[in-house]
Amino acid sequence: MEYAIITNNLTKKFNDFIAVNNLNLKVKKGEICGLVGPNGAGKTTLIEMLICALKPTSGSAKILGKDILKDPLKAREKIGYLPEDSGFYKNMSGFRFLQYMAELGGVEKLEAKKKASTFIKKVGLSERGNSKIETYSAGMKQRLAIAQAFVADPEVVFLDEPTSDLDPLAREKVLEMISDYARKGNTILITTHMLPITEKISDIVAIIEKGKIITKVVLKDISGSLEEIYKNTIKGDWN
Ligand SMILES: Nc1ncnc2c1ncn2[C@@H]1O[C@H](COP(=O)(O)OP(=O)(O)O)[C@@H](O)[C@H]1O
Ligand SMILES: [Mg+2]
Repeated sequence: MEYAIITNNLTKKFNDFIAVNNLNLKVKKGEICGLVGPNGAGKTTLIEMLICALKPTSGSAKILGKDILKDPLKAREKIGYLPEDSGFYKNMSGFRFLQYMAELGGVEKLEAKKKASTFIKKVGLSERGNSKIETYSAGMKQRLAIAQAFVADPEVVFLDEPTSDLDPLAREKVLEMISDYARKGNTILITTHMLPITEKISDIVAIIEKGKIITKVVLKDISGSLEEIYKNTIKGDWN
């Protein structure tokens, strides 16, 4: 079995606080894995370690067989990433930004232009592609940020809450794009608080609380809804 993401007792401590706690997760190539859990569960911290932006305190992980600690440059090569809060070069146009991100990701200039125009269409920004990013609405910026995660042809894409600012139609289009991308054999790890979305798009869902994966759900095998499973699994700190 080929795995795109494997973590082995991956742990991150901030001083005495354990944000990610001996976490074990395996995602097969071509799968969409939803990562859901309460605020502060450790989702973003996990993703930041997997994209080699944050050093684990202990444990290890591999992306497409490349160790994130021993071989971070190789591990990072095939990765696309949508951060929770994205920053932009505000004076660039959306199109130029995508072209720039593709080039940064190693795509050759002409091909980068093609990729930029493909993805600007896919997120419904063709008409505004030549406007400066600073003139975009929050939803448009989010769509551009999503396109940016895909534009350099990554084999593994991490999307940290991609749908929070999107209207229903934009959300549907973006989810379609994500599904299509995975169907080509690529792997996606996606966090969102919208359980029906996670349920619709994912093959497997990992429920995370206090830095640990407490349940892993294979969606085709469940009879009830993900929301039910989530509510029965998460303890929370509310009582
Ligand atoms: N740089 C940091 N320093 C200290 N604590 C942090 C830092 N980053 C995250 N945390 C803490 O780690 C926990 C997990 O955060 P995060 O991974 O952002 O959760 P999620 O994305 O699931 O909402 C939270 O309690 C958060 O406050
Ligand atoms: Mg987060």
